[in-house]
Amino acid sequence: MLAIDFMPNLIAENERVNGHLTNAKFAVGDATELELPAGSVDVLFSNWLLMYLGDEEVSSLATRALSWVVPGGVVFFRESCFRQSGDKQRAKNPTHYRDPREYFRLFDDARGVAADGVTKVRFELVTCRCVDTYVRLKQNQNQLCWKWRVVRVEEEGDGTAAAGAAVDDESSSSKGSTPVDAPATPSRRTPSASSLGHASTSSSCAGTPRHFLDAEQYSAHSIARYERVFGRGFVTSGGEASTRALLLMFSPALQQKKQKLKDEKVAGNNPFVLDIGSGLGGAAAILAADYNCRVRGIDLSVNMVSEKVFFEFLKRSTRKRKKTHLFSLLSFFHSQNQNSNQVLSAMDRHNAAAAAEDGGASAKAAAALARFEVGDATRVELEPQSFDAVHSRDTLLHIEDKALVLRKAFDALRPGGMILLTDYLKAPSDEEESSSGGEEASGSAAAPASAPSETTEPDSTLEFSTYVSKRGYHLWDLPTYSAALQETGFADVVAEDRTGAFEACLKSELEKAEADREAFVRDFSEEDFEEVVGAWRAKLTRVAKGQQRWGLFVARKPL
Ligand SMILES: C[S@@+](CC[C@H](N)C(=O)[O-])C[C@H]1O[C@@H](n2cnc3c(N)ncnc32)[C@H](O)[C@@H]1O
Repeated sequence: MLAIDFMPNLIAENERVNGHLTNAKFAVGDATELELPAGSVDVLFSNWLLMYLGDEEVSSLATRALSWVVPGGVVFFRESCFRQSGDKQRAKNPTHYRDPREYFRLFDDARGVAADGVTKVRFELVTCRCVDTYVRLKQNQNQLCWKWRVVRVEEEGDGTAAAGAAVDDESSSSKGSTPVDAPATPSRRTPSASSLGHASTSSSCAGTPRHFLDAEQYSAHSIARYERVFGRGFVTSGGEASTRALLLMFSPALQQKKQKLKDEKVAGNNPFVLDIGSGLGGAAAILAADYNCRVRGIDLSVNMVSEKVFFEFLKRSTRKRKKTHLFSLLSFFHSQNQNSNQVLSAMDRHNAAAAAEDGGASAKAAAALARFEVGDATRVELEPQSFDAVHSRDTLLHIEDKALVLRKAFDALRPGGMILLTDYLKAPSDEEESSSGGEEASGSAAAPASAPSETTEPDSTLEFSTYVSKRGYHLWDLPTYSAALQETGFADVVAEDRTGAFEACLKSELEKAEADREAFVRDFSEEDFEEVVGAWRAKLTRVAKGQQRWGLFVARKPL
């Protein structure tokens, strides 16, 4: 253990208190100039350090850290973000209250060389989340911590969407891509990824699944359009209604668990649910408010999780529109009005609930139960047997190594715990020929097909495989899913083709969007409206052809 600080008196005090520890050394040193032997560190920990450094200093430290820390080693830091925590007025405050996306950019961009002088290394995100004590005691989400792992650059790209290929192909993003699934194509009005604090697709850190999601399908603009169609808090088929209906399936297990805890007089230990791909936090809010569950929501998109994304996005939109239409910034964080144009990220939603005044007791209680973090379901570290249920809606479609996620979920569940998944599916291979017109509807996204022109073919004529690869989706068929759940060790596996329900949702969402045309065009644009309804019609066409399907999976970990 080597403890370093640039204040000699702090180091002296530290040594006085802890000097008896034979494995600890203490040194006065300045992080901005520090040099350590390459490959000499397993874990680099800092707490409230980077917020006192300028961007270049953070960047330089990150690069040096890449050579100090062994590949596989960890870098952890915790910083105040967004704003000051306390209310003390200060004449001088040297702190940089960064938007978390700034830290993402600085660490995503860092590249270094390992101790052998040859191997290129970078940081891979393990998790980014709020410091729980601040959330619990102060309802304050501005204390954020990051855990990164040092990995070889050739390890770049992980089990999620084959984003590297798709992002490298400029045509698949803002140039000429046709949105075929949903309103995801960044348009001219969309704030660019880099302007939102994410790496631009041309920077060195482009190509990770997280960047792909934040810059493309889940840009702030796209999420706002999705939410408009799916309903507040949801980016999934059927929105709140389908989520509520499906969550009823958890009900017996969660009630049973609650009773057991009550019988055993275990206080404050509500059932614990893992939500994989928690999106804007709609399902977590229901689980917390209606089922009294603690929820850990994990989502790879910073835009979905981090507060203020939409605040910035709406501010931008308002400026662009010369305030001719109403995005009410004032009431942005607090309004509960379902019809307003406000979009709340998972953290914003939490803030609004925690700040609820009269009549908000249940919202406050629910806010205290849900936590959100940015993390990859294929990389996340989960304590074994710690969850009573795992929930994941329409998320595994983004992930190639679904088997890994199922294994992680299985290990993280307590015996008897339940898993509930919905996901897009492709037709089983024996039906594939008839449904895809002879072309293999492959789930592989390794090589995105060349982008069709925005102005030419209507969505409905796009081949299913093109759609899948352009989205970076990885789709399984129903039997593959069912077999994988069983192979993982799950029992009582229920695997249902629910394409009929999916189609009904699509029709009603399309109808609602068409009825909302005037307001939609006012709040977004004519082009946005056409893209959205075009995308929904295209989904309906693929469903009618039997190509695009939707499945529900419920299973239990044996006792
Ligand atoms: C269609 S949205 C569904 C969101 C949410 N489940 C809901 O019901 O509204 C899919 C979500 O999966 C997230 N996602 C994609 N890949 C992921 C990964 N590897 N790990 C965690 N989340 C991921 C996306 O960022 C997105 O929020």
